[in-house]
Amino acid sequence: MNAPVRLTMTNVRKRYGPTKALDGVELELRAGEVHALVGENGAGKSTLMKVLSGAVRPDSGSMTLDGRSYEPAGPQDARRRGVAMIYQELTLAPDLSVEANVALGLETTRFGFLRRGVDRRRVEDALAVLEHPEIRPDASVAGLNPAAQQLVEIARALLLDVRVLVLDEPTSSLTQQDAQRLFTLVRRLRDRGVTVVYISHFLEEVQQISDRFTVLRDGRSVGGGRTTNFETGRIVEMMVGRSLDEQYPRTPHQAGAPILELSDLTGDKLPRGVDLTLHRGEILGIAGVVGAGRTEMLRAVFGLDPVRRGSVVIHTVSGAAIRTPNAAPRRRIAQGLGMLSEDRKEEGLTLDQSIEDNLTYTRLRPYTWLGCLNVGRRRRAVEDWLGRLRVRCAGPWQAVGDLSGGNQQKVALGRLLHQDADVLLLDEPTRGVDVGSKAEIYRLIGELAARGKAVLVVSSYLPELLGVCDRLAVMTRGRLSAVRPVGEWTPEQVMAAATGV
Ligand SMILES: Nc1ncnc2c1ncn2[C@@H]1O[C@H](COP(=O)(O)OP(=O)(O)OP(=O)(O)O)[C@@H](O)[C@H]1O
Ligand SMILES: [Mg+2]
Repeated sequence: MNAPVRLTMTNVRKRYGPTKALDGVELELRAGEVHALVGENGAGKSTLMKVLSGAVRPDSGSMTLDGRSYEPAGPQDARRRGVAMIYQELTLAPDLSVEANVALGLETTRFGFLRRGVDRRRVEDALAVLEHPEIRPDASVAGLNPAAQQLVEIARALLLDVRVLVLDEPTSSLTQQDAQRLFTLVRRLRDRGVTVVYISHFLEEVQQISDRFTVLRDGRSVGGGRTTNFETGRIVEMMVGRSLDEQYPRTPHQAGAPILELSDLTGDKLPRGVDLTLHRGEILGIAGVVGAGRTEMLRAVFGLDPVRRGSVVIHTVSGAAIRTPNAAPRRRIAQGLGMLSEDRKEEGLTLDQSIEDNLTYTRLRPYTWLGCLNVGRRRRAVEDWLGRLRVRCAGPWQAVGDLSGGNQQKVALGRLLHQDADVLLLDEPTRGVDVGSKAEIYRLIGELAARGKAVLVVSSYLPELLGVCDRLAVMTRGRLSAVRPVGEWTPEQVMAAATGV
């Protein structure tokens, strides 16, 4: 492929204190290509793209855009030159309308007001290009689902006549159908000559959508090429610097007595009449599309949402049954339940606090004696966890908010493991996590089951449910299918059940 070079990055470096986030990166992007950027959590992908889109100033290095020197003063300046980035965590203003959000990038008047008629038409045009005319300009963004919100962000970029569009893990909260629609849009943009940079931990997607790819490892570009010339296994090797033996490592375990029993569990809207029995030493998966009510089910069990009807019964080791349909999360924790929320920012982590505090705050007792915290002992325990989860960080004292997305997710999971609950409710446990660390998390889940813990996993990534779980059920519009051994499901059956066809 000999498309003209659109953008180059040469010897780009960026340090954060002791962390070399970027350590001399080289990148070349061509016009009209989809270029995948892959690498482990903390490899520097987001940082590199923030440099590209003007949000982060590099310590050194140079860039060119269409043959001319390119040094964006900030994101606005980059956008004016046609370079825009859609972030891992969406950045829309939830209380504003679609139109106002799209127009945020426009700067039509000096006073920040929209020139009504003209701009509404441009906004509508931009949304029409996305082929989603049902997204109304005056709708409030807070009411849109994640896919629609993402489209609004893309529309905002399109209005500015974008030439380089960066998508940072765009499909992590999309349904498969919405992901496919996004791919169609990406291809359409590419065919119009736009350069799309695509960051993803789903190498299936990288194979499907990208023309070329670049691998980052420890802040350096370590390889790349035309995607069709490389097998997925080879790309993984380049990412982790060794070959990965087993994507779904299994620890032998056996289901024991029931520990959590749900009958007719019904929430405010979702879920509806769920019956489920989870056993000690069992990994049970819940498949379904985004919005089917899986998160609501976990939230109701954990006491984050009210239970309107039905029962939640927890069986203790001594054989007693705790029957409390409604109990606050604090009580649920005392009853041996733990939950990993899919939204690590809202109710998972405290971003401005240290990794150490985040990891241990639900269970400080092992490090406390007569009311005093044994700091050294806690630090050693935390370091042990960080090693097991392969968290890339400067040290346990680092603020969680400074970690890369996938590493934040690992800390959130680490906290739950540290809590040592008997029943683990995991909502999208590997979202944003790289391939190697996914395998590590699957191994940990298997070990938990081997120790007699009960694990309930909600995931939108079907291969992992099929690879990790003992039994599987599918939720559709708040209702749960029968629970069957995982071997009795084919991917097609799960998809069919999930979409209700
Ligand atoms: N503002 C910051 N302060 C301190 N360290 C930072 C900051 N931003 C990034 N880093 C560090 O730079 C490194 C690269 O982070 P980056 O977010 O670019 O990784 P990534 O490849 O996008 O990872 P992921 O796949 O998890 O999203 C990480 O070690 C991270 O902790
Ligand atoms: Mg990132």
